[in-house]
Amino acid sequence: MNALTLANFPLALRVVFTSFLLTIGVGLLMAGAQIMVTHGMADGKPGLSIDDIVYSYYGNKNNSKIEGKLNGSMKAMAPDDVRLNIIKWARAGAPESEWEPTFKAVFAQYCVMCHNAGQTALPSYETYEGVKKVAEVDHGTSFTALTRVSHIHLFGIAFIFMFVTAIFAFARFNQTWKIILIITPFAFLIVDVLSWWLTKINPNFAWFTIIGGLGYSLASTVMIFTSLAQMWLPRFKTK
Ligand code: HEC
Repeated sequence: MNALTLANFPLALRVVFTSFLLTIGVGLLMAGAQIMVTHGMADGKPGLSIDDIVYSYYGNKNNSKIEGKLNGSMKAMAPDDVRLNIIKWARAGAPESEWEPTFKAVFAQYCVMCHNAGQTALPSYETYEGVKKVAEVDHGTSFTALTRVSHIHLFGIAFIFMFVTAIFAFARFNQTWKIILIITPFAFLIVDVLSWWLTKINPNFAWFTIIGGLGYSLASTVMIFTSLAQMWLPRFKTK
C-alpha cells in the first residue's frame, strides 16, 4: 500500500517541509531564550520562576518606595497607625480622591517639615504629584499591552502550529495519539494566553503560564522530530 505518508512524499516537498520545520525549531529555541532574558530577570534572579511570571503580569503590588521607607529609614517619622494607613493607601494605588480629604493633612503633619519644596535634596510631599511618584506600585503588564500581545500571539503562533500539525498529520502514528498531539499546541496556546489575563488578576494562575508553555513546546518538539525522522530515515519508507 503506497499510503500518503511523509516518507513517500516527493523529494522537493520533503525539502520544503524540512526547511520549514528546522527554521521553526530554531525559532522555538530563540523564543525560549527571549523569555529567559525578558521575563527571567523580573524577580532579579536569573532563570524563569513563578515569581518572574507573577511580577511580569500581576506586578509587585506590595512594593512601593514609600512602603519600603515607612518600614525602613522613615519608620520613626510617624506612629504605627499612621504609617499603616499610608501603606494601605499606597497599596490601593494611592487614589487621588483621598489626597485632599485625608492624606494631604497626614503628610503635612508628619512628613512635610523635611519633605518640602525648600529642601531641594528631598522630594516634596506637599503636593499629590510629589507623593504619587514614591507611592506608585508596580501593576505589571497593562490591559492595553495584554490585548495587543494576546492577539499577535494567538494569530502568529496559530499559523506556525497550523503548518507544524498539518505536516505531522501525514506521519505514521497511532491515530488517537496523533489527534491528541495535533490538538495539544492549540489548546495550550489558549491556556497560555488566558493565563496572562488570569495572572494579572490573581498571581496563583502563573502556574498555567508554565503549564501552557511547556505543553505546546513538548507537543511541537515531538511532532517536529517525528516528521523529520519519517521524511528522511529509510526505515519509514513503505513500498
Ligand atoms: C526628620 C526629617 C524627615 C521626616 C519627618 C520625614 N522624612 Fe522621609 N526622608 C528624610 C531623609 C533625610 C531622607 C533621605 C534618606 C533616606 O532615604 O533614608 C528621606 C527619604 C524618604 C523617602 C525616599 C525618597 C526617595 O525618593 O528616595 C521617602 C519615600 C520618605 N522619606 C517618606 C517619608 C514619609 C512618608 C514621611 C512622613 C511619614 C517622612 N518621610 C518623614 C527625612 C525625613
